[in-house]
Amino acid sequence: MGQLYDNAMEIAQRIRSRCDRKVDLCVILGSGLGAFVDALENAVVIPYSEIEGFPTSSVHGHAGNLVFGQLNGKDLVVMQGRVHYYECGDLKRVTLPVRILHCLGCTRMIVTNAAGAANPNFNAGELMLITDHLNMMMAGSPLIGLNEDQFGARFPDMSEPYNRQLSDIIRQTAKKQGLLLREGVYCASHGPEYETPAEVRLFQKLGADAVGMSTVPEVVVANHMLMKVAGISCLTNKAAGLSDTKLSHAEVMECGKKVAHDFVTLLRDSVSAML
Ligand code: HPA
Repeated sequence: MGQLYDNAMEIAQRIRSRCDRKVDLCVILGSGLGAFVDALENAVVIPYSEIEGFPTSSVHGHAGNLVFGQLNGKDLVVMQGRVHYYECGDLKRVTLPVRILHCLGCTRMIVTNAAGAANPNFNAGELMLITDHLNMMMAGSPLIGLNEDQFGARFPDMSEPYNRQLSDIIRQTAKKQGLLLREGVYCASHGPEYETPAEVRLFQKLGADAVGMSTVPEVVVANHMLMKVAGISCLTNKAAGLSDTKLSHAEVMECGKKVAHDFVTLLRDSVSAML
């Protein structure tokens, strides 16, 4: 058995000893987007710090809880906060929670994040369905190293990283709600510094509509395990060079709060339709 596989299974067992609900769908909540858990019924909250071996985040705005909950009586599990590559320099650690969620039974994953709008037509406060991504984390892939065949193939296909059916559900939900939902390519760089204007221009040329510091490693690992994925970015600011204001985490958090209502209703109704 592979080391990583054994670890993930063991940690999943520890989680099961705290909450034994069957879950098929997981949600990862990004910076300032933790309010979604308030929409859940019958929530069981387990702080990451109480799960031996579960990576913990040091970023303000990331609560660090694994939350089992229900929507319309159907179970799901939510990560309220995540670990970023810039916190630990270790993509295996960043992606371990997704391995664990898979060991818990999850075959579908909805990822969310705060991101800067690189597409000049997109604005702060808007939501974007992620249709594809660019991995500009210079550290490379979380799959580098010996492949653990229990999880997936050595050379996983990435031709549909964001699943069409799940994405369609989110699209249709936004339409029903009369909510403007942008669509585009999410580009991840490692951070923690925000991009320079020149980097944003480069990423635009490569096809980026939004820029951020997360998500891509988790989506790669989920695809490795043949999980179905959909993603939503909350555009909290115009990317560097596209507005006169300087970027700050405070601004990102502030905007996250403003769009929280739209974000939570879109996610709640989309996930309800998937369960
Ligand atoms: N760049 C990178 N990450 C981000 C941004 C940004 O402009 N906004 C929120 N997260």
